Amino acid sequence: MRVGLAEAVAALRSGTPVAFPTETVYGLGAPAMDAAAVARVFAAKARPRFDPLICHVRPDGLQAVACPSERLARLAARFWPGPLTIVAPRRSEVPDLVTAGLDTVGVRAPDHPLAVALIDAVGPIAAPSANPFGGVSPTTADHVLDGLGAATPVLDGGPCRVGVESTVVIADGDDLVVLRPGGVPVEHLVAAWPGPVRVGATGVLRSPGLLGSHYAPRTPVRLGLRDSPPGRWGFLGAGPPPAGSWAASETLGDDDERAARHFFAALRRLDDAGLDGIVAHLPEERGLFRAIADRLRRAAGAP
Ligand code: TXA
Ligand code: MG
Repeated sequence: MRVGLAEAVAALRSGTPVAFPTETVYGLGAPAMDAAAVARVFAAKARPRFDPLICHVRPDGLQAVACPSERLARLAARFWPGPLTIVAPRRSEVPDLVTAGLDTVGVRAPDHPLAVALIDAVGPIAAPSANPFGGVSPTTADHVLDGLGAATPVLDGGPCRVGVESTVVIADGDDLVVLRPGGVPVEHLVAAWPGPVRVGATGVLRSPGLLGSHYAPRTPVRLGLRDSPPGRWGFLGAGPPPAGSWAASETLGDDDERAARHFFAALRRLDDAGLDGIVAHLPEERGLFRAIADRLRRAAGAP
């Protein structure tokens, strides 16, 4: 159900989750300090409670929910508002449910006027992507309603500008560790961070939400096949499909920003085409293509 800004604010104040646009993907939000409302977000997504939510704040709001190092505060100042989530020690006021009991909290300042208006009205908003857990993230209001049901209140801001989720980072000593590649390219972090930048975490640093199969359509995804398998298969890649009989195909092109903007919608179109499977070719690991390659590997269950 589409709602206006005033209705969205009233719903949030009464503890009802609302889907809203950000520059990356649509989120399903609740006031971060309202644990009962946050519990309704987990329920609406069927999200396991071990997977923490991102707190959405104003660009000067990192200290409202976290106790960041000076380096991390500088990183926020450099990239916010924007698609960068900073994981930092939490403030004790943040409910355990938001952080999944961790001693850290993920924080970002979204760059979208409707998201900013909601935060200004109700304070920090805890929000995961507005899709059933494990599924494809929504980049339009219709995607939200398809996934979470027509009764979900959604503030429609049109298609998302970036199209892939935020880059999630955590500091490990002098290193910056990229837990999830996303809307801020790793190359930009390398230029801004004074120490080494590592992509991919191991051991205790692993992000609890980054399970093997994630960002997955219902249709099976296979990586890198050169031929179309027998049956109705679709193709997704940066370049055109290899010779073969494809029932459907989506070519993202070689402009990484444009490809990211259209990626999830293309994956959904293939998912809705009644295919036996989708063959995906991973793009080269540069810019926003790194996020696309990551999502395709997870969709194929091979991160
Ligand atoms: O662009 C985005 O990040 C979107 C929009 C709505 O802001 N949100 C989003 O949220 O993608 P979600 O919940 O789908 O993904 C958040 C990721 C999860 O993999 C979660 O495990 C990780 O961030 N995360 C959140 N807090 C964390 C923490 N304290 N430590 C490690 N990972 C954390
Ligand atoms: Mg998600």
